[in-house]
Amino acid sequence: MRIRDKKIKAIIIGASSGIGCELAKILARNGYEVGLVARRIDLLLSLQKEIKGKTYLKQIDISNPSKAIPEIESLILEMGNIDLVVLNAGVGFINSELDWKKDKETIDVNVSGFCSIANVFMKNFLLKGKGHLVGISSIAALRGSGVYSASKAFVSNYLEGLRHKAVKEKKQIIVTDIKPGFVDTDMAKGKVFWMTPAKKCAELIYKVIQKKKYHAYITSRWRLIAWLLKCMPRFIYDRLF
Ligand SMILES: NC(=O)c1ccc[n+]([C@@H]2O[C@H](COP(=O)([O-])OP(=O)(O)OC[C@H]3O[C@@H](n4cnc5c(N)ncnc54)[C@H](OP(=O)(O)O)[C@@H]3O)[C@@H](O)[C@H]2O)c1
Repeated sequence: MRIRDKKIKAIIIGASSGIGCELAKILARNGYEVGLVARRIDLLLSLQKEIKGKTYLKQIDISNPSKAIPEIESLILEMGNIDLVVLNAGVGFINSELDWKKDKETIDVNVSGFCSIANVFMKNFLLKGKGHLVGISSIAALRGSGVYSASKAFVSNYLEGLRHKAVKEKKQIIVTDIKPGFVDTDMAKGKVFWMTPAKKCAELIYKVIQKKKYHAYITSRWRLIAWLLKCMPRFIYDRLF
């Protein structure tokens, strides 16, 4: 049972815009103290002004794990006991020309950055014996379509491994894999159908967090697309996409 005045504490990696920014506001409105992490400090500062409750700021570039890991560790120390982390930071490019710079940035942020920061929190939760780790993957994780989809397949697969570890070690650690469809943020420019507003997406993610679910498509209608993608034969997939 919680001590009555104990604050619930969350860190959002990638809180400066889009889904992460909206989720930070929702968590704060619901009594969380929130640690806000991203590179664009100006956006974090204006988010901090908008949020009424207590927040912590840290300008961190997760694509450089050797610098990012100690910075995240010091944020955890500063905030104290962390109940929830949302690993939301990610980049995605249209890269039909297979430009290595774009692919490398995607791998640096969505794979190396994600994995290194997930490990910091997982070790922290394993030590305490509890915690909730949420990773933002994508519907794109389900079929091959360039480095972005491959990076999100890594995210979902890695989260499953962390969940397995928590179960094996009999810890009260929840690991949640969120797979949004198209969400109306800077990242999704050009996408046209079933676009979910970032605020709505964040509200749905918050519900998933409250229910401590292991997995969710956002919005739930994307479950249908997921099912179609998973059972679509290769020759149809190759023609359609
Ligand atoms: N929009 C969609 O349709 C969609 C669909 C499925 C999944 N997703 C996933 O949802 C997540 C959030 O994306 P969004 O749509 O909300 O786009 P967004 O507005 O571009 O947000 C991306 C967030 O990630 C942060 N970030 C990027 N690179 C970073 C780095 N090197 N270090 C630290 N933070 C970094 C950004 O902050 P800074 O730039 O300030 O560092 C920003 O806060 C991503 O993981 C994305 O892959 C999005």
